Amino acid sequence: MSNSKVIENFNNFVIPNYTRNPIVLVKGEGVYVWDGEGKRYLDLFSGWAVSSLGHCHPNVARAIQKQAATLIHVPNIFYTEQQGLLAKYISENSFNGQCFFCNSGAEANEAAIKLARIHNSSKGKYKIITMKDSFHGRTLATVTATAQPKYHIGFAPLVEGFTYVPFNNLSEVAKAIDDKTCGIMLEPIQGEGGINVADMEYLKGLRKICDDKGLLLIIDEVQSGMGRTGKYFAYQHYDIIPDIMTLAKALGNGTAIGAMESKKEIGKSLVPGSHASTFGGNPLACAASVAVFETIQSENLLENVKKMSDYAFGQLRNMSEEFNIIKEVRGIGLMIGIELKTEANEIVKKCMEAGLLLNCTHETVIRFMPQLNVKKEHIDEGLDILKGVLESIS
Ligand SMILES: Cc1ncc(COP(=O)(O)O)c(C=O)c1O
Repeated sequence: MSNSKVIENFNNFVIPNYTRNPIVLVKGEGVYVWDGEGKRYLDLFSGWAVSSLGHCHPNVARAIQKQAATLIHVPNIFYTEQQGLLAKYISENSFNGQCFFCNSGAEANEAAIKLARIHNSSKGKYKIITMKDSFHGRTLATVTATAQPKYHIGFAPLVEGFTYVPFNNLSEVAKAIDDKTCGIMLEPIQGEGGINVADMEYLKGLRKICDDKGLLLIIDEVQSGMGRTGKYFAYQHYDIIPDIMTLAKALGNGTAIGAMESKKEIGKSLVPGSHASTFGGNPLACAASVAVFETIQSENLLENVKKMSDYAFGQLRNMSEEFNIIKEVRGIGLMIGIELKTEANEIVKKCMEAGLLLNCTHETVIRFMPQLNVKKEHIDEGLDILKGVLESIS
């Protein structure tokens, strides 16, 4: 089908809730994707950190093919090997909790909010404190948890029971707690907020506040999880353990899957009938996600993230000396933000025209989130394009 026909179908039949680039993507392999006219793009954004093993990694593709030919879906009134195995991988690589599966980050966070409430329902506690510039999803509860007013416009009345405080500010959290508060929810690195990294003392302090006041610490690892920061989960850089953690994006490397893990004694509150998802934890998505864990281990990708992170930060810091337009480079592992002194959108667009996919977050931040198995030459190729664009505008 021609590009114009594809776009015509969208114009006629797809609700225009996304700002789309006039590009039809048809194929992906490793760090590259191709459009319908054969133009190749270097993808150093991984589609919001989803395609973390690169596009169509052979292990993931094989696992999906095999599972698709064996068993695609059965309802959650039965057991399947794949769901149990995936829960084991998540649990053993984090805090030995138990998992609930769903299909997206928003649903994982929705489950976390519901669990926090039901777990505290006998005490009449239901309020959750979230952080300004956070992002937790687009369902009504998770968009309310998302403390960015731009995402709320037109959706009132929002869900009751969320209190917003500034990120990285412990005293404001302490002030916001009242006798109805049941939890604190945050991303260890805010992605849509502009790659803001939680301070060490802050996350440790939040853990202590939760312990002292009997609150649940809910860590949203939807974007930062699954090896992105050089550890399986970003909270592991902080020497703390959450009560509840949520995952999605890279978990299935492109198959739709979300997960919520909680400590065992907390998860028990989600009694049969209290929460469910028809597709959640289906064998197809779970087989793909198991292949993701196996590949992270067999290809030693956490090590690669650390090495490539050092390399990328080095190159980017050199660039920030060369280009006055760069205000700051920050992040952990391969979750990197390049904050500019100006709007970043046009620069990201120019990079795309030159064959490099990046992203602009929070107006002034270029988001750089390459695949966990990225090589130096890909980083060089991408940064050369970015340099060219920065030179052309300065
Ligand atoms: C930290 C975080 N939480 C939740 C979500 C929502 O995930 P989904 O779009 O899969 O619902 C996102 C998406 O960007 C995210 O970055």
